[in-house]
Order: sequence, then C-alpha cells, then structure tokens
Amino acid sequence: MSRRLLITGGAGFIGSNFVHHWCQNYPQDRVVVLDALTYAGNRNNLATLEDKENFRFVQGDICERPLVDELLAEVNIDIIAHFAAESHVDRSILGPSAFVQTNVIGTLNLLEAFRSHWKNNSYPDDYRFLHVSTDEVYGSLEPQDPGFSETTPYAPNSPYSASKAGSDHLVRAYFHTYSLPTIITNCSNNYGPYQFPEKLIPLMCINTLMGKQLPVYGDGKNVRDWLYVGDHCTALDAVLNRGIAGETYNIGGNNEVENISLVKMLCELMDELATDLPVRPSSELITYVKDRLGHDRRYAINSTKIQNQLGWSPSVTVEQGLRLTVAWYLSHQDWWQPLLSPEYQAYYSQVYTQSAS
Ligand SMILES: NC(=O)c1ccc[n+]([C@@H]2O[C@H](COP(=O)([O-])OP(=O)(O)OC[C@H]3O[C@@H](n4cnc5c(N)ncnc54)[C@H](O)[C@@H]3O)[C@@H](O)[C@H]2O)c1
Repeated sequence: MSRRLLITGGAGFIGSNFVHHWCQNYPQDRVVVLDALTYAGNRNNLATLEDKENFRFVQGDICERPLVDELLAEVNIDIIAHFAAESHVDRSILGPSAFVQTNVIGTLNLLEAFRSHWKNNSYPDDYRFLHVSTDEVYGSLEPQDPGFSETTPYAPNSPYSASKAGSDHLVRAYFHTYSLPTIITNCSNNYGPYQFPEKLIPLMCINTLMGKQLPVYGDGKNVRDWLYVGDHCTALDAVLNRGIAGETYNIGGNNEVENISLVKMLCELMDELATDLPVRPSSELITYVKDRLGHDRRYAINSTKIQNQLGWSPSVTVEQGLRLTVAWYLSHQDWWQPLLSPEYQAYYSQVYTQSAS
C-alpha cells in the first residue's frame, strides 16, 4: 500500500537524511517536503531526488495555514513527519522569538491543519502526526542520575528546549483532546552528513581544516549522548511503521561522551584522515571559551521502551559514526564551503568572539 507523507524541514540536517531513507526504502510512497529554506535548509541536500516522480519539494513556511491546508488536501496526506524547527541552542539565546514562532506556533498550525483535514475524510489506521523532538526538554542530569525516560518530568532550560517542550505539550494535547493520532519522539544529539557548520562536530572538522581555534565551552566536561543520524532515521521508521498513537518514544545512542573527549577524538581522526592540515596535531587548536549561558551539564537517554516495544536499537558506535562523519566532511567541502557566508561569519563571531576567555 502506498502512503502520502508531508515531511516538514526535509531540507535540514535530520530531515534530509530521513527523506533519503524513506525514498530509498519505500519508493512507492509519495513524499512532499515543505521547507522554508532558512539559513539551515539546503535544497541541494535533496538534489538526487528532484527528478523522481513520487517526490516534490515545496518552499514554504509551516506557519502559513493556507499553504499547509492546500498541500494536505491536494496530496491527500496521511502522514506528517514534522522536523521543521529552529534547532540551535546558541541562536535561541541570541534571539528566542523565532524559536517560539516556528517551534510552537508552527507546530500548532500543522496540528490544526491536520485536524481539520482529518475531520473531512476517513483515513487508514496508519494516519499519523510524527513530532520529532529532543531530549533537551527534560533538562539537565547530575552525574549519577539515570537517563531520561518517557515519564521524566519536563524541565527545559534554554529558549530552544522550552519552545520544543511547548510544541510537545501541544502535540500531546491534540491526541488527548481530539484523538489526533500523534506520536512524539525525544532524541539525543545527532551527528552525520548534511549537518550545518554551526553544530559542534562539523564546526570542529571545518575549523581544524582551516587552522582555526576549536572553541570548547566551559571546562569541556558537559556530557551528551550521541546518535548517528542514520540510526535516528531507522528509529523514526520503526515508530512510523509500528509505533502506537498517543505514545512517546525516547531515542538514544548509548554513547555518553564529555565534549572535550569528543573533540579530542575528532582531532585524532582529522590528523589521520586529512592530508593537508595547517596545524598538527590539531588538538593544539583546542581553546576553552566562556561557557554558554544556562549550559545543561549532562543528557542521557533511556531508550529501553523503543528497544523492547519496537525492536529498534542503534547500529553505529560513536567511533564508527565519527569516522564516517569526518570522512564525509573531508570529501564534501563543496557542500559546506558555500555555507560559511558573511551572515554565518557574523553569527560565529557574535557567539565565540564575545565568549572567548
Ligand atoms: N540535531 C539534533 O541533534 C536534534 C536532536 C533531537 C531532535 N532534533 C529535532 O529534529 C528536528 C530537525 O533538526 P535538525 O538538526 O535537522 O535541524 P536543522 O536546523 O538542520 O533543520 C531545520 C529545517 O527546518 C526548516 N525550517 C525552519 N523553520 C521553518 C519554517 N518556519 N517552516 C518550514 N521549514 C522551516 C529549515 O529550513 C531547515 O531545513 C528539529 O525539530 C529538532 O528540534 C534535533
């Protein structure tokens, strides 16, 4: 049976990886990508799909209700996979409004549009609103605390995580109030191909190649759980195919690493894989900078539920995933070079020059 998906934010990092995953595994399904192409969106990520009959790209904002209504009706969408968001914590500290607009109002708009689309038609059982969210909604852990589970109370600490928490609550409420068949996933830090240069792993690879400082916040001992983006895609696939409406699934990589250890691993990989480095060993570029405001100390995910109930588990270790990722950034300089625009440079110096100690 063929399905019709609206994938929001499908030109971004995780969204584009997911679009490729879905089109490869379910070529009979119709996929419409709706993406505003903000600084983080890149239509080139989907270039190899553009001539496929079952694929369509629409540039537009999830906050534009008439556009969303039109797409839902025209394609008779039965699944929304919602990735579109403002996603970078540092940018949310500089300007929270865009985060509330896209992450909260945009999600509300999609929910309302899907609800009225649903009321007018009868849909098969796999009708779904998949809301892709983050583990950051749960706040920060102490060193000995157990990982976040699906019942951990929300305690978001940044404007980004607060806006994602707000959208999660709306999605949950639409299931309970209107029986809209929603599912929420809360996932740990992703990395892999097509990630915008501002995020930790690409930033370190690119700065190393350019011989620039590798800025590490605070004492570098903040802990994150890292998940290779391909594993996130297989988890979302399991959730869409076998997940239960109204449920939340936490997704993690079982890879807790301190930021400074991660950066050192990246330096070693760059020393090994890059032929032409301005500074060797590249770890000499590591520079501690003033900590991010409100920086959460530790995130960890308990993903027992998705493992037991849906049979998903991550397949890529952090060592394997980092090697794949470093190799990708080394062989795709034509992808990331154009993203280092004057706007990006201005953002970069605002965050790191001001915070450099
Ligand atoms: N990156 C991570 O580590 C991570 C971890 C867990 C969850 N998430 C969540 O996964 C989703 C995708 O994250 P990402 O890292 O791929 O983000 P990203 O910033 O790389 O991509 C976001 C995409 O959304 C688009 N977009 C932004 N505002 C829009 C709007 N108003 N209308 C339409 N499109 C819009 C952008 O153009 C871009 O293509 C987000 O919801 C994020 O909260 C990310």
